[in-house]
Amino acid sequence: MRLSLSTTHGGQGVTLQTPTQTSASSLTPPVTPIGKEAGDPERSIPSPLEETNSEQTAAQVKRNVITPLRFSDDVEICRDSADRPIEFGRGAWSIVYKARSIPSAPAANLHTPPSSPITTSRILAVKAPLRRDARKVLQAEALTLTRLNLTPGYEQHVVPFHGLLSDSDALVMSAVPLALSTYIEDQADLRKKQPSTATMYDPVQGPDSWRDMARKLISGLAWLHDTAGIIHGDIKPHNVLLRSIAADESAFPHEPLLADFSSAIAIPSDSAQTPDPNHAAMSAFTPPFTAPELLTLASLKSGDVLSTPASDVFSLAATLIAAATGDLLLYPSANKMQRLAMARDGHRILDFTRSGSNGCRVPCRGFVEKLTQPAVAKDPTQRIPTQNWLVLASS
Ligand SMILES: Nc1ncnc2c1ncn2[C@@H]1O[C@H](COP(=O)(O)OP(=O)(O)OP(=O)(O)O)[C@@H](O)[C@H]1O
Ligand SMILES: [Mg+2]
Repeated sequence: MRLSLSTTHGGQGVTLQTPTQTSASSLTPPVTPIGKEAGDPERSIPSPLEETNSEQTAAQVKRNVITPLRFSDDVEICRDSADRPIEFGRGAWSIVYKARSIPSAPAANLHTPPSSPITTSRILAVKAPLRRDARKVLQAEALTLTRLNLTPGYEQHVVPFHGLLSDSDALVMSAVPLALSTYIEDQADLRKKQPSTATMYDPVQGPDSWRDMARKLISGLAWLHDTAGIIHGDIKPHNVLLRSIAADESAFPHEPLLADFSSAIAIPSDSAQTPDPNHAAMSAFTPPFTAPELLTLASLKSGDVLSTPASDVFSLAATLIAAATGDLLLYPSANKMQRLAMARDGHRILDFTRSGSNGCRVPCRGFVEKLTQPAVAKDPTQRIPTQNWLVLASS
C-alpha cells in the first residue's frame, strides 16, 4: 500500500493516525464524531456554520467553507483471513478499503465520573490515493463533500462523508457496499437465467423498478445542480451507490447515492468565469457515459473543456440506458476504439443500443426512449433541464 501507515499490534490491521481537531475559530467545520451521521439529531458538535447561518443559501455556505472536514478518530483497515486488506473497489485515483473506526480516548474530566468505555465501532469505507498525484484530487473531493454535507437534502442524495485523514489524504465515508454497476450486472444475470418472452421488451430489472430508480436518480441530479450548485462530472453506474430500503415488490428497493466527486466542479455563477486549471486536469473521462461534446478531438487535445450540467444530464441518461439493457459497457460487442467512436456520436446512443443484442429492451416510442431521448440531444443547450426532466420522470 502506498499510504503512510503504521501497523497496529497483533497484526489486526493498519492504523491511519489522524491529527487532532483543528481550531473551531477557523473556517474548518469541526470534526464529525464517528457514530454521528450528518444530519443525525444526536449530533453533538454542530458546525458553527450550520448554527449561525441556517438561512444561508448553498452558494454562500460553499464560499465560506475553504478547508475540508477532518476525521478525528483512528481508522483500522479490515483484513481477510490471509491478512490482505479488504477492498470495496478501486478506480483511476484510488483504492476504497473496508475499515472500522477506533474511537479516540475521551479527554479526562476531573469533575464528572468517567464514562463507560466506547466499545462500538462501525464499518466505514476509506478511499485512499492510489498514486502520488491523486492526493490533490482527493483533497479537492473532500472539500466538495464537505460543502455538500452542509447543503440541505445531502443525506438523501450523497454518500455520507465523515472527513479527511490529513496525513494520508484518504476520505472516510460510510460503507455503502452495493454499486449500481453491480446491481445492473446482477439483474442482467437473473434475466439470462430466467429468459421470458413476456419481459423481453422491458428493462432487465422490470419496468416499475426502472421507472422508480430513474425518478430517484434524476431527483438526485436535480438536487446536485439546483440546490448544491455542483456538477458531478463523472456520472456512471460505478459511481452511484445503493442504500437498501424497504419497498413494494415492484419498486426499486434502494436509495441511489451519488459517489466519487473526484471530477466535480462548482457550477460557475458567471458564464465568463474561467475554469480552475486544477479541476480541468482532474477530469476523468469514461466513454461511453461521457457527453459527446467533451470527446471531440479539439476538446481532448486542449484539455480545458469542462463538464456542464448538460453533460451530467447526458451521462445520467446513458446510465439509465445501461440499466435498461443490462449492458454495463453500453456497446458490449464493440472494442475500445469503436466504443470511443460511438461515444463521440453519443446523440445516437439509442440507435446504437437498439442494434445491440439487448436493444429490444429499449423499444421505439417506449418509456425508456421517452425519458432518455430529450437528455441525449447533440446540442447540449437543447438537452432537457433537470427540473423538467424530473417532471417527465414523475408523470
Ligand atoms: N462509501 C463506499 N462504500 C463502499 N464502496 C465504495 C464506497 N465508495 C466507493 N466505493 C467503491 O469503490 C469504487 C471506487 O471508488 P471511486 O469511484 O470513488 O474511486 P475513483 O478512483 O475516483 O474512481 P474513478 O475511476 O471512477 O474516478 C466504487 O466504484 C465503489 O465500488
Ligand atoms: Mg469511480
